[in-house]
Amino acid sequence: IHKWYHSGLNRWHGLGSTADFQKIIQERCDNYPQQIWSYSRSRNCQEIKQAFMSAFISKDPCKATKEDYRRLIDLADPTVPCNKIVLWSKTKELAREYAKPRGLVTLEDTLLGSLADDLHWCGEPGSPDLNTWSCPDWKKDCRTNYLTVFWEVLSKRFAESACGTVQVVLDGSLENAFNEMSIFGRVEAPNLKPMVTLQAWLVHDPGKPPRDSCSGSSITKLKSILSERNVRFICRDNLRKFLKKRKPTLNGKYGVSP
Ligand code: APR
Repeated sequence: IHKWYHSGLNRWHGLGSTADFQKIIQERCDNYPQQIWSYSRSRNCQEIKQAFMSAFISKDPCKATKEDYRRLIDLADPTVPCNKIVLWSKTKELAREYAKPRGLVTLEDTLLGSLADDLHWCGEPGSPDLNTWSCPDWKKDCRTNYLTVFWEVLSKRFAESACGTVQVVLDGSLENAFNEMSIFGRVEAPNLKPMVTLQAWLVHDPGKPPRDSCSGSSITKLKSILSERNVRFICRDNLRKFLKKRKPTLNGKYGVSP
C-alpha cells in the first residue's frame, strides 16, 4: 500500500485537481484576449492567480464559502454590456457555438470563467499543495466544495449584472429542459434583475425525439419563477434552425443530420 493511500488524499469521489493548475491559470490569464478585457474590470494576472490559490489552498475542501472567493471575484468581476449574455444548462458547447459568431458572451468568455473552464481544484488542510488524487463530488461528498461554490458565486454575479435581453440555451431532449437544481435553475434564473427579458432557446438532438418543449411543465415552472421577479420571458423551440449548417461534432451530438 502506497503512502498516498494512507494519507487519505484519494478519499473523495470526484476527479482530482487538474495537473499544472497554477500554470494553466497563469497562461490563460496572460493570453486572455485584449479586445475582451472589458468583460472584466482589470487583469493583474499575478494578483489574480494568488487570490485564486489562497481561496482554497490548505483549507478543508468541503468547507468552501462565498467569502473565500470574494477577493478573487472583486479583482476580476465579470462585466458584460447589455443584450450580450448567453446562459446555458447542459448545453455549454452549443451555447458557445451560438454565441461566438454573434458577438455574444457566455460566462466562459469572461476572464474568471475562462481561467477556470473545465479545470478541477481542491486543497488539503495543512498542505500547501493541490490534491491531484481526488476532490469532493457534489453528490457523494459535499455540496460546499470549492468547484461548486466558485461557479455558484461567479454565475450569481454574472446573472445579477445582466441587463436588456439575456438568452439561455436549454436541452429539449431532456425530460426537464429547465432543472431547478442546476446552476442556471437555482442561481442564475432567480437572480436576474426585474425588467430583464429572458429569451430561452430549446435545442433538440437530431437523433432523438424531443422530450421537452416551450409548452412543457419544466418551462412553465421557469416562467412562474421569472414572473414573480418581473422578468419577461420568451421561449422558442428549435434553436438549430438558427445555427449555421456545420459538420457533425465528434460525438455527433449536436451535428446537423444529413
Ligand atoms: N467548466 C466546468 N464546470 C462548469 C463550468 C465550466 N465552464 N460552468 C459550470 N460548471 C459546473 C457547475 O458546477 C455546473 O453545475 O458544471 C456544472 C454544469 O452543469 P449543467 O447542468 O450543464 O449546467 P448548469 O448547472 O445549469 O450551469 C451552467 O451556470 O456557469 C453558469 O453561465 C453558466 O449558464 C451557465 C450555467
